[in-house]
Amino acid sequence: MSTKVAVFRKTRFNAAHRLYNPNWSEGKNNEVFGLCNNPSFHGHNYELIVKVVGKVDAETGYVIDIKLLKEIIQEEIIERFDHKNLNLDTKEFKSLNPTVENIAVVIWNLLRKKLDKKYDLQIKLYETERNFVEYPVLSGSSNAY
Ligand code: NI
Repeated sequence: MSTKVAVFRKTRFNAAHRLYNPNWSEGKNNEVFGLCNNPSFHGHNYELIVKVVGKVDAETGYVIDIKLLKEIIQEEIIERFDHKNLNLDTKEFKSLNPTVENIAVVIWNLLRKKLDKKYDLQIKLYETERNFVEYPVLSGSSNAY
């Protein structure tokens, strides 16, 4: 059977951050990042949706064992970022501005390394209910989910 199906796993993590460009003046940082540049940091409840696309395996009936996907997300993302200050506590954002865009790309790269190449991977990351990003951007796509 070669039917392709998309499998989704939703998860949440909480993290603090500050948006800041060290090459800019305080004035410019405040102008561009506003409250997100608060030197005392602020937090978000991030919601992550991981989408894995692959063929349904004839023997298991699975695209991917969700247990395995859950473990990869837990080990690579949740243990790394949950209840952390992204700027101070993580090596990934020591010198990378932790915008929701950058966080999504970092998360995708971490997951990609752990997932079999036979799968397509796409994620959505919500910083708030209304603000979210998708990565990678698929060509000709408004099909997402
Ligand atoms: Ni923020």
